[in-house]
Amino acid sequence: MINMPEVGLGTTVFWNRNEDAEEAMGRAVNEGLVSLIDTAEMYGTGRSEEALGRVLSRCRREDIYLVDKILPQNATKEGFGRSLKRSLMRLGTDYIDLYLLHWREKADLAFVADAMNDAVKDGLILHWGVSNFDVSDMEDLFAVEHGSDCCVDQVLYNICHRGIEYDLLPWLKEHDVRPMSYSTLGSASTGDLKRCECDEHIRRIGEEMGLSPAAIMLAFDLRTHDLTALFSSSTYKHIVSDLKGLYADLDPYMAELDKSFPAPCGKVPLEKI
Ligand SMILES: NC(=O)c1ccc[n+]([C@@H]2O[C@H](COP(=O)([O-])OP(=O)(O)OC[C@H]3O[C@@H](n4cnc5c(N)ncnc54)[C@H](OP(=O)(O)O)[C@@H]3O)[C@@H](O)[C@H]2O)c1
Repeated sequence: MINMPEVGLGTTVFWNRNEDAEEAMGRAVNEGLVSLIDTAEMYGTGRSEEALGRVLSRCRREDIYLVDKILPQNATKEGFGRSLKRSLMRLGTDYIDLYLLHWREKADLAFVADAMNDAVKDGLILHWGVSNFDVSDMEDLFAVEHGSDCCVDQVLYNICHRGIEYDLLPWLKEHDVRPMSYSTLGSASTGDLKRCECDEHIRRIGEEMGLSPAAIMLAFDLRTHDLTALFSSSTYKHIVSDLKGLYADLDPYMAELDKSFPAPCGKVPLEKI
């Protein structure tokens, strides 16, 4: 299983130029609170990568584990190298630690595996993976030559969306692919954080453990061994309080949490946002 930080910050908060968010992220990195940062060429059509480039210029590159994503329509013979070089330029770096295919769509998986491995050989990326791949997509990927070099599957997973526990998480574990969860806090649009803030069990456990609902949501994802959880915040104060979830052990509380947020008892098609 690939080794990487357990927790990382996302950059969707950079979609629009947001200097507070850049400042908060730079401070969190420079204080050593967080070292993995996730972006994508899609976010703000490159503006998130540019904003992250500004943050990186004020940090030591080697202190950051950088994750970026290519759109499926650019993962072609003509587009792949162009997209990767454009992302490197916006980020102001000469390598990406982990490069992901953002989602499958009509991507030619055999081509993707070859192109990713060539980029590794060229030193432009260190590892590669995919995002939003369900079990059947992973099986198709592993059926192509070099497909099993894929190290990570980044998917939606939080306490309100537990579908992947049924089959995808066990599949990834069996095949040595690291799960990376996104929207760990339910993102601003889904309302999951609001739901957790109102839940009686989360409120009680939070009081007992001295944790906010957001920190409990982060701790929930992190109880999965060898998973990396992504969250995002434009506020330094939130980043600090959310990260308290990194050290929390929720195992003694799982039976109680299961009452409000039951584990799946059958296949749930992979959810995406
Ligand atoms: N691969 C994919 O398809 C995919 C899809 C979605 C996301 N992602 C990645 O995953 C990252 C994280 O996911 P996400 O951005 O969807 O959302 P998220 O981390 O689930 O939620 C972010 C929202 O939570 C709020 N928040 C954070 N801490 C809080 C607190 N203590 N109290 C109240 N509100 C709080 C933030 O607002 P404040 O700014 O006010 O704190 C922000 O609006 C993204 O940035 C992106 O890099 C990947």
